[in-house]
Amino acid sequence: MSAPKKLFIKTYGCQMNVYDSERMAEALGGEGYVETKSPDDADMILLNTCHIREKAAEKVYSELGRFKGLKAEKPDLKIGVAGCVAQAEGQEIMRRQPLVDLVVGPQSYHRLPEMEAKAREGEKVLDTDFPEEDKFEKLKNRPKAKRGPTAFLTVQEGCDKFCAFCVVPYTRGAEVSRPADRILREAQDLVERGVREITLLGQNVNAYHGAGANGDMTLAQLIWELDKVDGLERIRFTTSHPNDMQDDLIEAHGTCAKLMPYLHLPVQAGSDKILKRMNRAHTAESYLRLIERIRAARPDILISGDFIVGFPEETEADFQATLDLVEEVKYGTAYSFKYSTRPGTPAAERPQVDPKEADDRLQRLQALLTKQQREVQDSMVGRDVTVLFEKAGRFPGQMVGKSDYLHAVHVADCDRAIGDLARVRILSSGANSLAGALID
Ligand code: SAH
Ligand code: SF4
Ligand code: F3S
Repeated sequence: MSAPKKLFIKTYGCQMNVYDSERMAEALGGEGYVETKSPDDADMILLNTCHIREKAAEKVYSELGRFKGLKAEKPDLKIGVAGCVAQAEGQEIMRRQPLVDLVVGPQSYHRLPEMEAKAREGEKVLDTDFPEEDKFEKLKNRPKAKRGPTAFLTVQEGCDKFCAFCVVPYTRGAEVSRPADRILREAQDLVERGVREITLLGQNVNAYHGAGANGDMTLAQLIWELDKVDGLERIRFTTSHPNDMQDDLIEAHGTCAKLMPYLHLPVQAGSDKILKRMNRAHTAESYLRLIERIRAARPDILISGDFIVGFPEETEADFQATLDLVEEVKYGTAYSFKYSTRPGTPAAERPQVDPKEADDRLQRLQALLTKQQREVQDSMVGRDVTVLFEKAGRFPGQMVGKSDYLHAVHVADCDRAIGDLARVRILSSGANSLAGALID
């Protein structure tokens, strides 16, 4: 038998890309590839890319440029671009960077083995179709290898919301939900391989409406099915849109013990004028009332958010409304971005905010969000949480894991193993993590 070929994958962007990279590695595993941690000894390099902001997309070209020397030394090295830049730019990528052999969009990953074979024969290959078939069914080339205690599982993909700033509906396509039985089988398989916590993924995950035994299911119904899987201890999901936060899902946060008290619910802005121009289809007030209802169901839930500042025509008063909304919600964690013009999206044509002004707003927003994040993290001190241990810490006997609220927690003198859950009393709050002790 010949030596296995080596595959180096670099992943950018969101968690769905992380999940997709695993699937691509498995698909190419069937073609005799094993993963390597360094591009230097790779026979194939795949960049799984993100197109959400200009910086993310441009990074791909600088990264590709760095492989020039490697390709000159090793003419058999194949270089591929996958993910959302592949979908958005297609052929243009090979024009801009001729060393690219293969371009594959997110809906065509199941065709990678054929594409790889063609690339090996010296062809330039491109596939950015949105085929009808279920790529995940065709990507089931799973080795039964043991895994870490946490995993992602894509249940829904694509988006029909068309927020005026966002490329996702174009790069991932229309919203599609996977049938429930396939998700449950995959979850069962993950648990058999050591997984204790599953994060259900979708660009619009709470719009999930996959086929079940008795018609389409909601995300909450799917969660209740997963709740029955023995050995699965924790369920999370991301990312949700405020308008798809249905009653049964809110209720599940109060009644389903495996569903963790953490919710990522992006609002983007606090001004109704801007929300309308973003095509978000909700107001600041409706979002705040929604948060109230969620907190009524699960008072200790940690709320996380996404924000964009400097959206076209955002005034200082509009920005102030974002700060006011943040003050009212009190976020446990948040991601904030300066608006980035994306070609082909509706907002790209509109009058832009002065970049210096946008930078200044971003700084002010981040200062407030960081302060809130700190306060929420510090408020955990003295409380008891459940920790799922994920790895050994830096010091002998120390273990690190995540609390129900997704805070990193360090525990000294810890006799538990990776994958164990334990009750922990929080003793102190550090820069980016908590420290605690096991409760006997
Ligand atoms: N599906 C998710 C988010 C997808 S993108 C949702 O509906 O919320 C993740 C985040 O990137 C978005 O929430 C938004 O805050 C940010 N983002 C998207 N497009 C952007 C753009 N053009 N410029 C700056 N930030 C953007
Ligand atoms: Fe993008 Fe999310 Fe809006 Fe869909 S709902 S268009 S993924 S920001
Ligand atoms: Fe980026 Fe595509 Fe995810 S644009 S955020 S990798 S869906």
